[in-house]
Order: sequence, then structure tokens, then C-alpha cells
Amino acid sequence: MNYDIVIIGGLGHVGLPLGLVWADAGLTVGAYDLDKAKGKEISAGRMPFLEHGSEPILQRVYGKTFFLVDDVAEIANAKCVLITIGTPVDEYLTPQLMVVTRLADQLAPYLRNGQHIILRSTVFPGTTRRLQDYFAAKGLSLHLSFCPERIVQGHAVKELRELPHIISSFSEEGRTYCKAIFKVLCDKIVEVGVEEAELAKLYTNTWRYITFAVANQFYMMTEKCGASVREVHRAMTEGYERGRNIPRPGFTAGPCLLKDTMQLSAFYTNNFNLGYAAMQVNEGLPAFCIEQIRQNHDLKGKKVGLLGMAFKADVDDVRDSLSFKLRKLLTFHGAEVMCTDEHIQAHDFFPLEQVLNEAAMFIVGVPHERYRTLVFPAGKPAFNIWNMDSVRDI
Ligand SMILES: NC(=O)c1ccc[n+]([C@@H]2O[C@H](COP(=O)([O-])OP(=O)(O)OC[C@H]3O[C@@H](n4cnc5c(N)ncnc54)[C@H](O)[C@@H]3O)[C@@H](O)[C@H]2O)c1
Repeated sequence: MNYDIVIIGGLGHVGLPLGLVWADAGLTVGAYDLDKAKGKEISAGRMPFLEHGSEPILQRVYGKTFFLVDDVAEIANAKCVLITIGTPVDEYLTPQLMVVTRLADQLAPYLRNGQHIILRSTVFPGTTRRLQDYFAAKGLSLHLSFCPERIVQGHAVKELRELPHIISSFSEEGRTYCKAIFKVLCDKIVEVGVEEAELAKLYTNTWRYITFAVANQFYMMTEKCGASVREVHRAMTEGYERGRNIPRPGFTAGPCLLKDTMQLSAFYTNNFNLGYAAMQVNEGLPAFCIEQIRQNHDLKGKKVGLLGMAFKADVDDVRDSLSFKLRKLLTFHGAEVMCTDEHIQAHDFFPLEQVLNEAAMFIVGVPHERYRTLVFPAGKPAFNIWNMDSVRDI
């Protein structure tokens, strides 16, 4: 079988929606992924994770223009191989650079001269060049490109068709090809150099991470001095154009923002003080909130309902969710934690109704749609940082 594109990591949060949207536009797409459990879900017509609007597309294209690829050797039959595997940092915050070179080893025996290789994973700066040199040393003449993903998880289907796509390549043929395939999705293209594209992606996530840290730092300061953070935010933003984008506080989590800030820091020989400061603030917020709560409430033996275990609203993904840090801290202080999540089933989670009935106090870990209008039982304190509630008032 011949493919326009085979996506490596094609059943992940980035690879799968992208493959589906391309397949829906008529391209022949293969998805190769190590995770065979996700493959089973796909072949049954179900998305393995929540991605709004994607399941009807899957059911439309599966077996017609979208195929599961079981054998990596099939990349030999693809015009383009696009890479969307995870690019983590380890427990010491060091980027795992070997994941990409190990993958290159895996792919190299099946690649042919003239194929396009597009990196779409977020990478340590210089990785695309390194891959180019690596394949060249093996005698392969490939078109290496870097085209970063910028969607917000959960809304990929919509955003892939609306956001400008950054494209970069080491060859003219690579640039022309990338422009053509991304124009299938959206005709807004931003063309830059490869190193610039790698940095632009990391800076984008790092910018967001630092911006959220500023909001969280302001929240902590405001709580400490006893003023209302809601009123401060209103004063900063109401009718004031330059304040329009000042974010509200919230638990800033997930598999990308912190990880990419740390990739950038490692790139800058670990001298990125602003990035570390943002990490201290964002990762320290759960402990700050628990300490504030403890000033008014003894947590020992208390049942605490924790609503929302995903890393952000309206997804079913728990990767690097700060709700688990909240749970650990609460448990450490003797609370009995009842976790619930609208989108996630787990053996130790409870239905929302049971949590509302049995818990004596509530914390909203993540503002899923359902929790935004939820009325908590009278007389039981509830803390919702997303509403800019004060921890002092609960
Ligand atoms: N999740 C997002 O919203 C988002 C947004 C922009 C960029 N990114 C970046 O995209 C990349 C992927 O992120 P993700 O969230 O999709 O991760 P993910 O873990 O959801 O998906 C990665 C997939 O790759 C597969 N995989 C890993 N190694 C493989 C291999 N050697 N061969 C075949 N399959 C392999 C995994 O099984 C998994 O299904 C990361 O670099 C991330 O930083 C993610």
C-alpha cells in the first residue's frame, strides 16, 4: 500500500488528530504507534482519548484513507514520514535527547533517498539538524523539515484547520512540500528557518508557562495580604485594553509547558532563571493553597472531595496533572481524599454525587464544564481557584 504520509507516534494526542484531519481531506495516511491498545480502540471506531469532534472523522476515514500501520518497514511506501513521538525531560529535568536518535535508528533501514521527514514533536534546539546529519552519515539523502504543532489539546480538529502552520526545512523541495501538505489543512503558512522554528515552538510554550506563573504569583501575594484577587483582576482588566490578556490564576500543569520550559533551560546551559522561577511558582501553588486551607481547617481525618483530576479542563488526560500533587499533600496532612473526574474512570475515583454527599470540604482541581455551574452543598466549604475564590474564605 502506498501512503502520502506515515505518522510515527500516529495514535498520540498530536499524531492522531493530525492524521485524521489529513485523511478527511483525502490524503492517504498511515499511523504507526507502539501502543497497540490504542490501535484496538481505533479499529473499533473509538477515539482512545477525548479530542472534540474527532470520533465522527475517525469513523468516516478508517479503512478508507486512514490506516493502522503494524510494521515500521511500511514507511518505505510513504512519500513522507512525520514524527510525533513524545519528547520528555527526565526526573532531573534533563531532555531525553536519545528518544529521537533511537527512533532514527529504527527508521533508517527502511528509508529511501528523496523521502520527506517532518519532525512535529517539540524538540531540543538543534535536533532537526542533528537528524539531517545522522541520516546523511548513513548515506541517505532526505528532505528534513521541522513543522511544530501548536494546537491546544482537546481542540486539535478545529485548530488544525484555523491556526497558521509554521513550516521550515533544510531544502527548497522540503519547504515546497511542507507548504503544500499543510495548506491542505489551512492556507495560513508561516515560513521560517529550521532553528527559528524550533525556538519559536519552545518560546511559545515557555511564554505561556511564565505568564501563568505571573498570575499565580499575584494570586499568592494577594492572598497573603488579605485583599480580593477577583477585585484586583477586575481592576486590572475591566475596560482596559492593555490588560485584556492578563490571565487568571489556576493550577498550571500538563505534559508540555513545564517540560518545554525545561528543554529551553537545558539548551541555555541551565541559566534560564526566569523559567525556573516560573516552575517554582506553578509547581508550588498546590502547597501554598493547602497551607492556606490548613490555617482555617484541620485536615486530619477530614473527607475532602477533589473535583477534576485531568491536567486541564474538559480533557481526559492526567499527564502531569497538579491534582495528584494536591491529593498527595492532602493525604500527607491526614485527609481522606475522594477524587472524581467527569471524563476519567479509575478504580479509586468516586461518582460526583457520592463525593458531594460524603465529603466535608471540596477543592476544584480542574474546572471541567460541569463544575463551573455546580452548586456545592450548603455549609460545606469549597475552594475553587479558577473562580478566584479565596482560600482564606473557605
Ligand atoms: N499534547 C499536546 O497538546 C501537544 C501540543 C503541541 C506539541 N506537542 C508535542 O508533540 C509531541 C507528542 O506529544 P503527545 O502529547 O502527542 O504525546 P503522546 O504520548 O500522546 O503521543 C506520542 C505517541 O508516540 C508513540 N510512540 C512513542 N515512541 C514511539 C516509537 N518509537 N514508535 C512509534 N510510536 C511511538 C506513543 O505510543 C504515543 O502514542 C511531544 O513532543 C509534545 O511536546 C504536544
